[in-house]
Amino acid sequence: MLVTGGAGFIGSNFVRYILKKYPDYQVINLDLLTYAGNLENLKDVEKNLNYKFVKGDIADKNLVNELVKDIDIIVNFAAESHVDRSILDSAAFIHTNVIGTHNLLEAAKNNGLKRFHHVSTDEVYGHLGPKNPPFNEKTPYAPRSPYSASKAAADHLVNAYFNTYNLPTTISNCSNNYGPYQFPEKLHGLFITNLLEGKKVPVYGDGMQIRDWLFVEDHCEAIDRIIHDGKTGETYCVGGDCEKSNIEITKKILELLEKGEEMIEYVKDRPGHDRRYAIDFSKIKRELGWQPRTSFDEGMKKTVEWYKANENWWREIKSGEYLKYYEKQYIKR
Ligand code: NAD
Ligand code: TYD
Repeated sequence: MLVTGGAGFIGSNFVRYILKKYPDYQVINLDLLTYAGNLENLKDVEKNLNYKFVKGDIADKNLVNELVKDIDIIVNFAAESHVDRSILDSAAFIHTNVIGTHNLLEAAKNNGLKRFHHVSTDEVYGHLGPKNPPFNEKTPYAPRSPYSASKAAADHLVNAYFNTYNLPTTISNCSNNYGPYQFPEKLHGLFITNLLEGKKVPVYGDGMQIRDWLFVEDHCEAIDRIIHDGKTGETYCVGGDCEKSNIEITKKILELLEKGEEMIEYVKDRPGHDRRYAIDFSKIKRELGWQPRTSFDEGMKKTVEWYKANENWWREIKSGEYLKYYEKQYIKR
């Protein structure tokens, strides 16, 4: 199995999950180690004889052609993934999410691959009003940020390679994930670590934007089901059945860390901020028997405990390159 972007948040959780569940699988992790990639995320498996790390770009033709030769399954997590960064500068998003995915598809086209699974997002469907029904596999694409537009382009390419070249593809469009190893620029990682550092948490706008939160291990299990039992050419929507406003998430984190609401700082809103995402996951439930296992309370508790127990991990990140970005983004706002 070739896992791309396996040194990031979801990819590293997935590599660990696969090595544990399928001890006879050999996993190659191809990752460019951008600011978001961190080999510390996989320290506990780096000596596993069935695991190999390759540093490189999914857009590198020669490297990818070489790597796919003996591969049965590709799972493509590699991406630029942060909406705020895509607003500041979207070039890397086009390079990795569009050109990189195209390069992987080209390399996979003629190698007799069993499955090309592309990990995508619910953000390709745009956003919802408070009364709209949740997104499902038939919802028309309507991305609104450079990030979601680049992910939408990649999804279309994946479907084109299924229809045109019979490449055995599947796509999962998942809602927001949270859990261990999430980079501390996303809502959970940033807010928990800020509070552990005694800093305030920056809530954008009125904090009433809604996301459908899924614990990361449940997402890994959904991808496992899709790559092994999902039908090629199909898309599966994956969600948490857990719609929460940002302010609800913030208050839960404050409660778990025993902090007061004076730690909330309302800041200028994100431009084009999507109001609500929600996912109808009845197809994957019906066809593959998947549904989220982890309750909101359990997932939030596990997540906060993980950041408390892994202070070295996030302190290292927050003191490095990340700072330069964060200062830049704060100044812009
Ligand atoms: P992440 O930013 O934590 O990790 C991305 C990884 O990709 C990093 O390790 C990075 O080094 C690597 N990468 C970036 N450019 C690369 C390139 N050109 N070649 C090789 N590797 C490269 O992202 P994440 O949150 O783990 O998301 C993983 C995937 O899941 C993405 O495709 C994202 O769009 C999708 N997704 C994420 C969420 C979420 O809530 N985080 C929800 C739904 C879908
Ligand atoms: P994020 O984790 O960036 O995911 P996405 O934008 O892909 O959904 O943000 C989740 C929500 O939290 C989103 O509505 C923006 C909001 N948010 C804040 O209010 N403050 C912050 O500092 C961050 C990073 C996010």
